Amino acid sequence: MKVRKAIIPAAGLGTRVLPASKACPKEMLNIVDKPAIQYIVEEAVAAGITDILIITNRGKGVIEDHFDHSFELETQLAAKGKTEILAEVQKCSSLANIYFIRQKETKGLGHAVLCAEQFAGGEPVAILYGDDVIIGEDPAIAQLTRAYEKYGKSVVGIKEVTPEQIVKYSSMKTEHIADNHYMISDMIEKPAPGEEFSLFSILGRCVLDPEIFEILKKTPNGAGGELQLTDAMKQMALTDGVIGVDFTGTRYDIGNKFGILKANIEVGLNHPETKDELKAYLKELASKL
Ligand code: UTP
Repeated sequence: MKVRKAIIPAAGLGTRVLPASKACPKEMLNIVDKPAIQYIVEEAVAAGITDILIITNRGKGVIEDHFDHSFELETQLAAKGKTEILAEVQKCSSLANIYFIRQKETKGLGHAVLCAEQFAGGEPVAILYGDDVIIGEDPAIAQLTRAYEKYGKSVVGIKEVTPEQIVKYSSMKTEHIADNHYMISDMIEKPAPGEEFSLFSILGRCVLDPEIFEILKKTPNGAGGELQLTDAMKQMALTDGVIGVDFTGTRYDIGNKFGILKANIEVGLNHPETKDELKAYLKELASKL
């Protein structure tokens, strides 16, 4: 079945990037000239997704405003003949059919995904974590939807992380199938040292079969007292196997300070308006470090 729908969970508290995320959701933090979540929406659209549900909560209304028209601003830009920037601003409101729902309590990623059951309507859904920006030629979520269509099983985006990182993420029991595809037969969220299956962790993207919703309803709260999406995906891995795609592209974790810095530097080095000035600045700066 073709994957047409995506969910972007963006209702987390963003404690690792406070106070920046106090009044501004971390998903709205800037990377050069666009908020992080716009890169994520554009990735989904580039992969052929037509309908996107963004899961927000109180205080995240600016996300809705960003993907809506801004009549006053657009009228002024048009009157001043600023056609290029006007087109960029208008693009935000016409990227896809974007819907919003509020997760009324912050009870974990699994709980956030469960809020999207009606939206999914029995179809498979792509999930793009709202604080993981992935930049690459081939959109990461497209690599996963192709694998879903090929194998007919739920798919997770995986990458190898360091032994220091694995205890904060999830760990996959993998068996290589072909190219960058793996069969995953078990997984664990936030493994204690020694409990990990491998250094492969789920990073920011998955495509899930609609059965995930029934499984989530039966899954008890896990690490941190929250309903963990990994715990529900583990059930799928144990019964039917889940496909892991070691995706290409660079991932930036916007939920942590260094991730935001790296994203701004690397995206800035590729942006036509900033690349030359930034390169010269970084070279000069590096010579003094
Ligand atoms: P994280 O665990 O990275 O987000 O969840 P967080 O809870 O905001 O992080 P910290 O630890 O407080 O800094 C991954 C994604 O899932 C969303 C987050 O917004 C993020 O995009 N999320 C998390 C929800 O939508 N709801 C939740 O209850 C938890």
